[in-house]
Formats: sequence, C-alpha cells, structure tokens
Amino acid sequence: MAVINTQQMELQEKGFLDIAVDPSLDLFAEIERLKKEKNAIVLAHYYQEPDIQDVADYIGDSLGLAQKAKETNADIILFAGVHFMAETAKILNPTKKVVLPDLKAGCSLSDSAPPALFAKWKEQYPDHIVVTYINCSAGMKALSDIICTSSNAKAIIDSLPADQKIIFAPDKNLGAYLNKVTGRNMVLWNGACMVHEIFSLEKITRLKIRHPEAKLIAHPECEEPLLRIADYIGSTTQLLKYTQTDSSQTYIVATETGILHQMQKDQPQKTFIPAPPDNSCACNECPHMKLNTLEKLYLCLKYEQPELTMEESLRVAALKPIERMLEISKAAGLIG
Ligand code: 13P
Ligand code: SF4
Repeated sequence: MAVINTQQMELQEKGFLDIAVDPSLDLFAEIERLKKEKNAIVLAHYYQEPDIQDVADYIGDSLGLAQKAKETNADIILFAGVHFMAETAKILNPTKKVVLPDLKAGCSLSDSAPPALFAKWKEQYPDHIVVTYINCSAGMKALSDIICTSSNAKAIIDSLPADQKIIFAPDKNLGAYLNKVTGRNMVLWNGACMVHEIFSLEKITRLKIRHPEAKLIAHPECEEPLLRIADYIGSTTQLLKYTQTDSSQTYIVATETGILHQMQKDQPQKTFIPAPPDNSCACNECPHMKLNTLEKLYLCLKYEQPELTMEESLRVAALKPIERMLEISKAAGLIG
C-alpha cells in the first residue's frame, strides 16, 4: 500500500485544502508565479477540467505522463490526475516532491483489483506472467511482470513469445479487446472502469443515424459491443491525434468528456459530440478526476500539500515492471 501520511489525511479531512480562496485572485497568474518560484511542473491528464488543462505544462495520456514524470528536472511534480498516476510519477522519480490537488482522487478500475485478492487469485496460474494496465495501485504493480497503457498494450503483448501464457489485469474490457487484436487468449481479471461502461449503445446508435457523417471514436476501456461499431479505437492521445489528422468534420467521442477540450481547441472548425451515458446523469465524466479543481491545484502548489509518499521497498518492487514497459515502448518508438 502506498503510504498516505496521516498528517496530510487529517489536514485534508479538516478542510485544509478546502479553505476559501479569495475570489478576486487571478489563479492563472498566481499558479504561473508559484510554478516559477518553486521550480514546479504541472502534469495533467486529458480528463481534467479545462481550466486545469490550461495551466498544465504538459497534458497527456498515461504513457506520456509517465515518460514526462521520469525525465523532468523540476523540484516539484504537481500531478493533476488520479492517485495511481501520481504514484507512478513518484515511483519513477523518487527524489522529486510529488503533490496532487486531492488525495481522494482514486479510480474505480484501480479499486477493482485489491493486491491481496489478486495475489491469491494468480496462484491458480503459476506458469502465466502478469501484464497489468497502469490503472492500478503500486501494490498491484509490485505483483506484475510488465505494466502497459492503452497506447502501448498491443506492442507490449506482441513483444512476448507467442506461447507465453499471460494474465491481464485489471480491465476486462481492454483485456478482451487485446485478446481480439493480438490473437492471444489471456486470462482476464474481472475489473472495469465505471465511466467507460456507462455509455448507451442505443443513444449512440440514434446519434449515428442523426449524424451519418460522424465517426465514432472510442477508448478501449469501453465494452465490446461499442468497440465493435467504433471507427477508431485508441488511448486518449491517439484519439486526439486521430481527430487532428483524419478528414472527417464530426466525431462522437466515447471516452471521458475532458478530452473534448483539447480536441475542440485544436480543431475549432470540427464538431465533437460526447457519447451519451445510459441515463440522464453526467456519468461520462469521471467523478475521481473531477475532484481536482483549479482552487485545489492552487492551494496544493502554494502549501506543497498533500504530498504523495511511499515505502521504498514498495517503490522498488513497483518500478521494475514499469521500467520494462518503458524499455519496450522506447524500442518500439512509442511516445504517449
Ligand atoms: P489513457 O489516457 O492512457 O488513454 O488512459 C485513460 C484513462 O482511463 C485514465 O484514467
Ligand atoms: Fe479510473 Fe475510469 Fe476515472 Fe480513468 S476514467 S480514472 S479508469 S475511473
């Protein structure tokens, strides 16, 4: 388990990071000033709210963010994403101070694979190696042979001998998709992302009838029936790049809605329609990612809290499979 410093937890629970921010403050200017003063870098995932993306020094998918976290010379890494992403940054660059706007920003997919349960379950497959999606805890990474992200998973699996038996965790949807595109028969852990399982196939089908010119683009964490009708499947960065190079003018985007900010910014003349969830909630927004706000980010940078810390033995164990992923990605020329 990653160590969440109890003092930090108490501070957050007492509302330390919820203290009111003077509404007349220009948070964009203040954040820029603090970044320079503290030699801090802000790394943000595409699912963050637009204001956070706009103050980030780098926005990327999980692979790009890990690569950036490893190479940065900044003294402080402010990670605007969820807990497992900040953990990965700490694992890769332990001498840096890693802070995140909200310690409670977790991930339903990561939570679906508790390390103790997984360790017991994998005992059934002693001759399998474990390929684990980066959306998991440091404890799960320590139990894995190789980590992958949605942008390099196929290359990672293809790099393994054809007769190598594999367990894939924790995302059963991504795992099933990878079994299909690699021709493997990986044993899948039964985990899933709450956001990517909420899309309504019926509503998407209706949208496609209303917008016959639109292309459906989807993240591979989506369920198989949706992926089957998608025109393009890829990680967040791959989806963004696709909309930059493809000639269509309209896209139905089946992933968390935060990505639409960069798509629209980059291609203002194109139309991007968020794929609708199967009820009237805003469930195509990740409630974990959206715990971060510009105010919390400002306070986090100002007070350098909450900080992500980790036991060294866990960090070293979790580092090995991440480094294997980065080496294979580098050899394949993959950048997130
Ligand atoms: P990528 O940005 O690597 O495609 O991952 C998506 C995701 O679910 C992050 O939580
Ligand atoms: Fe986790 Fe899904 Fe949210 Fe990504 S979108 S952080 S996989 S719950």
